Amino acid sequence: MKDWWKESVVYQIYPRSFNDSNGDGIGDIKGITEKLDHLQDLGIDVIWLSPVYQSPNDDNGYDISDYEDIMEEFGTMEDFDEMLEEAHNRDIKIMMDLVVNHTSDEHRWFLKSRSSKDNPYRDYYIWKPGIDGKPPTNWGAAFGGSTWEYDENTDEYYLHLFSRKQPDLNWENPRLRREVYDMMNRWLDKGVDGFRMDVVNFLSKDQRYPDGEKMGTGYGNGAPYYMNGPRIHEFLQEMNKKVLSNYDTITVGEMPGVDVEEAKLYTGKGRNELNMVFHFEHVDIGNGEFGKWSNQPWKLTKLKTIFSRWQEGLESDGWNSLYWSNHDQPRAISRFGNDNEQYRVVSGKMLATCLHLLKGTPYIYQGEEIGMTNVAFQSIDHYRDIESLNAYRDLTAGELLTPEDMMKGIHARSRDNGRTPVQWSASEHAGFTSGEPWIAVNPNYEQVNAEIVKNNPDSIFYYYKKLIKLRKDNPIIVHGKYELILEDDEQIYAYTRTLGEEKLLVICSFSEEPAAFKLPKGVGFSEKELMIANYQVDSNEPIDSFKLRPYEARVYKLT
Ligand code: NOJ
Repeated sequence: MKDWWKESVVYQIYPRSFNDSNGDGIGDIKGITEKLDHLQDLGIDVIWLSPVYQSPNDDNGYDISDYEDIMEEFGTMEDFDEMLEEAHNRDIKIMMDLVVNHTSDEHRWFLKSRSSKDNPYRDYYIWKPGIDGKPPTNWGAAFGGSTWEYDENTDEYYLHLFSRKQPDLNWENPRLRREVYDMMNRWLDKGVDGFRMDVVNFLSKDQRYPDGEKMGTGYGNGAPYYMNGPRIHEFLQEMNKKVLSNYDTITVGEMPGVDVEEAKLYTGKGRNELNMVFHFEHVDIGNGEFGKWSNQPWKLTKLKTIFSRWQEGLESDGWNSLYWSNHDQPRAISRFGNDNEQYRVVSGKMLATCLHLLKGTPYIYQGEEIGMTNVAFQSIDHYRDIESLNAYRDLTAGELLTPEDMMKGIHARSRDNGRTPVQWSASEHAGFTSGEPWIAVNPNYEQVNAEIVKNNPDSIFYYYKKLIKLRKDNPIIVHGKYELILEDDEQIYAYTRTLGEEKLLVICSFSEEPAAFKLPKGVGFSEKELMIANYQVDSNEPIDSFKLRPYEARVYKLT
């Protein structure tokens, strides 16, 4: 089978915020179908669809109460089937989100599990007695508080690494694993094309359940006992054998805390696990004492070191996924570029160039192709994200951060930055809904929207389109070997890609100030061809030494 997923560009849809077709203020599946032409025009190959399953929405669909039904707010299974067919008609594949580290506490398995100690479903989840009236371990949960919730009915605690409405499944139980595989097979039989697997490196827990080292919040860090746990590779190989190996799929595992060596085990040849992983090293850059909430300035050399480590580490074994942003991250331009109107578009194009020319499968997050930016709601009341709201409550109540500093952290890094509605036009609510949106639209929608970029041939939308087309026409972008140049430069990220006799030279300025570029001696060539650039460039200009304008990006083909 051909590794088509290496050649693909993936576009992520967060359905709640994408497009509302029925005026209830919430994006839906019919809304996605309406916009498939937009995606086909852009040229993407695969849609990663964030969860559309039945859910009480404690964590916007990442708390699933029925894996085989569609969330009512999003529509029906008929709507889903229509979307799948319409996507396939346009040669667009659909990659589903697979959230099987946990379910909702309203899932029928959990309702049975909590009903009594001897219910056959008890062992689908992780239950433990307390120790001297305290939870079984000191671990802190991702959305605040302990990872253990006491249940009076049976006098035991259940584990939840995320919110208390997201109980963790017990992957030690072969019956549970079988149920998950059967469910995956049914989706694949229906025709979906693969899975993005939510926190999938958390599935195997260290069965000793030790306490973790104390963190600033007072809770212990349980991560060493559930990240990349003892049986994780066994579980994924089993899943591959029972499910994935029988279909031609695309798979990507979301893996906080994964490093390059571990990623080789997840994605390497002959390992029979996954195609690629999402690591977090570059998006965690600048984390301070309270993680992302105490956001710090970061250095370009650090970012380059991270990307280069992954590029080189997976050069001959394994495969990279490439992303700046997703529904858990701020907008790429605000985080890594410059959202000041003067530089918004040019820095957005630069970031796209820098990412799409690396080796790996690029992911575009909805709105990125429009040039969307972070939002800065003045009051916490305008935020909807459980992580941001709980962190605000816990960190300000504990006086660990002042409300002002916490709001700064939220403006820079809250997940809601990526969740404001996609800005389709300059009409009311950015054309996202005819009703009242579930979260407010970014006030810049009159200047930043799809209608504007689609009417301007020089826009960021057409720039993305060109990058995607370049990938299709130039195998070197998919397969070329990566080499970092100008390693110590704090303004410029430059690298080469080499395949046979051909070389690409990628030059990106991350700086608002002009930046002096000097071609290292080792990069020889006789002919050069400018492939793409975000400013007007005189194609005869010598490239041994020149000045880059703010956030300038150029790609040359050298022969
Ligand atoms: C990662 C998902 O991307 C995030 O949105 C979610 O809150 C957690 N996993 C828990 O499912």
